[in-house]
Amino acid sequence: MIIGSISEDKNIEKRVAITPDVIKKYITLGLKVNLIKDYALHLGIKDDEYVSQGAKILNSEIEIISNSDAILQMNIPSDENLKELKKNQILIGVLDPYSNEKKLKEVISKNVDCFSLELLPRITRAQAMDILSSQANLAGYKAVIDSFAYFQKAIPMMMTAAGTISAAKVLVVGAGVAGLQAIATAKRMGAIVYATDVRIASKEQVESLGGKFLIVEGSENLETKGGYAKETSDEFKKKQEDLLKETLKKIDIVICTALIPGKKAPIIIKKDMIDLMSSGSVIYDLAASHGGNSELTKVNQNIDSNGVYIMGDSNILNKLPVSASSLYAKNMFNFVSNLFDKDKKAFNINLEDEIIEKTRVR
Ligand code: NAI
Repeated sequence: MIIGSISEDKNIEKRVAITPDVIKKYITLGLKVNLIKDYALHLGIKDDEYVSQGAKILNSEIEIISNSDAILQMNIPSDENLKELKKNQILIGVLDPYSNEKKLKEVISKNVDCFSLELLPRITRAQAMDILSSQANLAGYKAVIDSFAYFQKAIPMMMTAAGTISAAKVLVVGAGVAGLQAIATAKRMGAIVYATDVRIASKEQVESLGGKFLIVEGSENLETKGGYAKETSDEFKKKQEDLLKETLKKIDIVICTALIPGKKAPIIIKKDMIDLMSSGSVIYDLAASHGGNSELTKVNQNIDSNGVYIMGDSNILNKLPVSASSLYAKNMFNFVSNLFDKDKKAFNINLEDEIIEKTRVR
């Protein structure tokens, strides 16, 4: 059996689905790996590094697609390449089935099995495949680094003979995967960190990282059985707004990560709240691609609102694509390994397996 991977559209995606360190693992599993020429050269990884691990480099994307039993990508391939897919082949990636419904329906109608990794259930067995967690972790870290780099003051408290510089104050909105990493990163750099979330369970996690948890008084725990957030009531929103209005006056940097799965991001930082922030403050809105947690966020733009700088990059992972690819490639390998029958040396689409069933696009 052969797996293959072709170039991503490098204008929008710098990550790759296969890194040299996973090639041997695929080979041990019983798979051959074909990659397109200069596959990860833009990341400083030469073809030779893949070849020395046992991969084969080909010059034609069409040849790779037509020879592969499974195509492993980051994003959905171009329309041209999707056309080349045929019966019994498998396509795996972050396929964004909601936006790409029509394209994927066409592919599936040719009896191609498509698996989209953002649909993975967040269960223990799927943790090693969980691309949302691995990528959100890096996103939380990088949002702190980028916002701190833009911020015009020092982050930690510094006592010098010339006087004392006070530590920067950071607020993290949403203490999920990205949020917790943002808290840890900001703490390590010497900031005073506050965080808020609608799930009471996150209070302990925030505090264990040295953050101060801002609790919306009298609120019930808005957590689903699956560990995700529920939508908030109007009463909760009003209380959260009052709490944040007071807090934001003294905050230097806000990292927004609040998300309700399958929904538009909740607008938490309203315009009137931003107006209360000091000039020179920074908001990094990681939820930008879902509409943003700040009312003024513009996707893929950095804007200045009366001196408050609002950053809305929708793919921050393109700024650390080597680390992001490394984790993604391991997640991908773990997914493929679960899909592959090691005894029969063939892919086995066992729909009784929750991981396979939930990620399969219909
Ligand atoms: P997650 O589901 O682990 O965390 C989201 C958190 O927001 C949860 O703890 C939830 O309880 C909280 N939340 C929901 N509604 C809230 C509200 N009204 N007030 C306060 N907290 C609330 O999600 P994860 O994986 O941490 O991702 C966070 C965001 O970062 C998502 O929007 C995701 O798409 C985005 N992201 C963006 C990237 C980029 O390149 N811009 C890359 C990776 C993730």
